[in-house]
Amino acid sequence: MPPHRTDDPPDRGRLATSRRSLLQSALLGGYTLGSNAPLAAPATAAQQSPATNAPTDATADVAMRVALTVNHQPCSLTIDTRTTLLDLLREHLILTGTKKGCDHGQCGACTVLLNGRRINSCLALAVTLEGDEITTIEGLGTPNAPHPLQAAFVAHDGFQCGYCTSGQICSAIGMLAEAAAGWPSHVTGDIATSPPLTNQEIAERMSGNLCRCAAYPNIIAAISSVAGGSTQ
Ligand code: FES
Ligand code: FES
Repeated sequence: MPPHRTDDPPDRGRLATSRRSLLQSALLGGYTLGSNAPLAAPATAAQQSPATNAPTDATADVAMRVALTVNHQPCSLTIDTRTTLLDLLREHLILTGTKKGCDHGQCGACTVLLNGRRINSCLALAVTLEGDEITTIEGLGTPNAPHPLQAAFVAHDGFQCGYCTSGQICSAIGMLAEAAAGWPSHVTGDIATSPPLTNQEIAERMSGNLCRCAAYPNIIAAISSVAGGSTQ
């Protein structure tokens, strides 16, 4: 029997959501692709069901309690000590705005802020972060009041598929703080001075965040506009 085939035109009503509006929602982090429902706030330990919070027999000997703050909300939960921060965010707290790309510290898709500094969450064991403050894309802005970098990425079309975008934005926030503190980069000519954030400086400082869609020119333009519209 030949494979099913139809020549019917696609249902345009189902395609009414534009790519731009869909990605804008995704990069704000409060929505999941394919759904208009806002994500639930991180669950506290008290809100977690005993079934999901209690260690299983298989992990009882490697389970540990950790308390940390995620997007200004304290949370405490018992997890396998091998759980990365990335998996804690995505699998336990259902904060799926932070993406898993390589899971090996090579792509930057999982970048979040740890006490204000950018890190690859796939490389951090969650139990080592007792008392720390984590900020993810979901904690940066709202659809009505986006973070300046979120607004800039929309204004400059700094994404195509959007998969890398939450990591790019979190990384850019950390990068701008590093530059403001006078940290040099590999391309800084005179490390005794605070270099202007040229496009070359931004590209170098953001080189840990890959974009498979190669939206780099627009990403740099977006970051540059927030950094003060620096020169080439
Ligand atoms: S998923 Fe963490 S660096 Fe790629
Ligand atoms: S926008 Fe697709 S990977 Fe960067």
